[in-house]
Amino acid sequence: APAGATSSPTSSTTAEPLLLRAARGEVTEQTPVWMMRQAGRHMKCYRDLVKDYPTFRERSEIPDVSFEISMQPRDAYGTDGVILFSDILTPLPAMGVDFAISEGGAITIEPIRTREDFAKMTAKPFEPETRCHFVGEVLSRLRTQLAGTDATVLGFVGLPFTIGTYLIEGATGTKTGFAAMRELRESDPQLAKDMLGLVAERIAQYAVYQIDSGAQVIQVFDSWAGHLTPEEFDEWAAPYQRQVVSTIKEKRPDTPVIIYMAPDTYSKGGALIERLASSGVNVVSIDHTISLAKAREQLDAAGYEHVGLQGNLDPAILCDGTPEEIVAATEDILKQAAGRPHIMNLGHGIEATTPESNANLFVKTVQKFRSA
Ligand code: CP3
Repeated sequence: APAGATSSPTSSTTAEPLLLRAARGEVTEQTPVWMMRQAGRHMKCYRDLVKDYPTFRERSEIPDVSFEISMQPRDAYGTDGVILFSDILTPLPAMGVDFAISEGGAITIEPIRTREDFAKMTAKPFEPETRCHFVGEVLSRLRTQLAGTDATVLGFVGLPFTIGTYLIEGATGTKTGFAAMRELRESDPQLAKDMLGLVAERIAQYAVYQIDSGAQVIQVFDSWAGHLTPEEFDEWAAPYQRQVVSTIKEKRPDTPVIIYMAPDTYSKGGALIERLASSGVNVVSIDHTISLAKAREQLDAAGYEHVGLQGNLDPAILCDGTPEEIVAATEDILKQAAGRPHIMNLGHGIEATTPESNANLFVKTVQKFRSA
């Protein structure tokens, strides 16, 4: 049994699963591994389920189905992390905003752009225990199923800037350069800030609900904040990241938090990495536009020696690489991280056309590796 194998009887943390310990900042005897978006399109068993449950909302909101999908990558590859099969948009209906995802993956939301629209969000209190009960049920079943194994159950939430882009755009904002959000920031900055503040409060409450239901680690996604200049980031993303993370830490201090942002123009090459660390998280999940060694150096130099790293294999290598290339690139990252807390992952979500054999090779390469 890898977990606890080297534990001393007096230490309570070493009896915990590998990924949980790494997320707390321990240098573990083996590097834990999972893949962002690991459950889903690249797996045949998932595509088969899609035939019976054609919409994403069914697959993520029927507890039996969401539970089964969450377990698929654990069963197939033995990933150390098992993430809830859900979406960052899942709590929106409980906040007064309905959404749909088409079979092609297009997202549609009733946009919130005026005070009248915003009143729909404030009309009723946010009660995840009742309106998001399916999420709690899946997490508690995952926790029961995985009890006594070396796996860690991850919950996740979207952070206010990223959730806010969906609310204001009414869709994925990347294609329009987040035009509607830029417009609202100019025309009614107070409304934009009220919205982000309300989302921050509720998202933190939703994360606490996930922890109380069984999540052992929370990953917070601010995928689209990498589109902001550093100055914009400080005004529109950072304060709300801090609000969510500090509320989780205040209410559930023992639960480690990982932050992730997708690579984009401004974030490329790790330009915003210290800013992510300053949110108060335990771990920063880096993309593949910066080397792990460079990210480590940057965080250390900025006084974040205690913050761990997650990442960062380029998902394109996992999709198109030869087995030799996948092993070499994976081991290279593991060597760069040696001696410091590290959770292995991809730099962004796994691509839909990734062969399952490559995903398996990646996980197995990490689990076989021992730093000299
Ligand atoms: O990719 C990221 O940057 C992570 C953050 C993020 C998630 N959802 C987390 C997630 C973002 C930005 C979203 C929004 C969203 N929702 C997208 C992204 C692109 C867009 O159009 O805005 C998509 C495709 C959805 C809908 C969705 N979410 C589908 C169809 C699926 C199923 C699997 C897949 O990848 O196609 C998801 C699952 C999902 N989204 C998970 C997470 C953490 C599931 C858990 C996992 O396996 O990691």
